[in-house]
Amino acid sequence: MTEQISLFGNQLPPEVDALSPETWEQIPTRASIPIPSGTYENLEQLAQHCNQCQRCDLAGGRTNVVVSRGNPNAPIMIIGEGPGQQEDEQGLPFVGKSGQLLDKILASVRLDTKTDVYICNVVKCRPPGNRAPTAGEVAACIPYLKEQVRLVDPKIILLTGGTALKGLVGVKQGITKVRGNWMEWEGRNCMAIFHPAYLLRNPSRAKGKPKWLMWQDIQEIKKKLDEVNSQPA
Ligand code: URA
Repeated sequence: MTEQISLFGNQLPPEVDALSPETWEQIPTRASIPIPSGTYENLEQLAQHCNQCQRCDLAGGRTNVVVSRGNPNAPIMIIGEGPGQQEDEQGLPFVGKSGQLLDKILASVRLDTKTDVYICNVVKCRPPGNRAPTAGEVAACIPYLKEQVRLVDPKIILLTGGTALKGLVGVKQGITKVRGNWMEWEGRNCMAIFHPAYLLRNPSRAKGKPKWLMWQDIQEIKKKLDEVNSQPA
């Protein structure tokens, strides 16, 4: 990736600096330069930019960019790791086996995927063989996620699995340790929860097992939503 430049340095190469992008359309899709907060006026612009994105090598292997599903005004945002095969084919997040389980978990506390949640991922393109995205891929893609958070403005963010927890909040801890606890990130209520794929691999419902813990967590999440909804705007 010869065109990639440091995401963290303040110095942009002269050709980019000279451009002084004023609108999202002027931000080159091939260079991993910062995408400042406020770049997109709406989620349609963001999706359009994502659809052209070549910021990392995952672009070369994708069938579709996977941006989101659900309600763009939802009070809950759910963040996964990255698209799998079915997501890549359909261009929608969490539509495979993990997604079906996620929908069931939400339905168990009467949360509707069309109205109550907005679902997206840390990386928008499928990592080959369903491997975890690399640090470079996450760094290239994370500005889109941060813009999604700003535009959707959710009251509650659920981070499914370690990649989402580390990618958005910067916390590198095991989910088993931190799940079930509310943490604040940029003024928002966040909770790390087990990734549904992990629950598929650990199907026991016995007390103390991941599925049982997930049931505790989703009830707590519903309680928080009711609490947030009952507060004056
Ligand atoms: N796993 C994820 O983390 N995201 C998806 O969209 C699908 C599976």
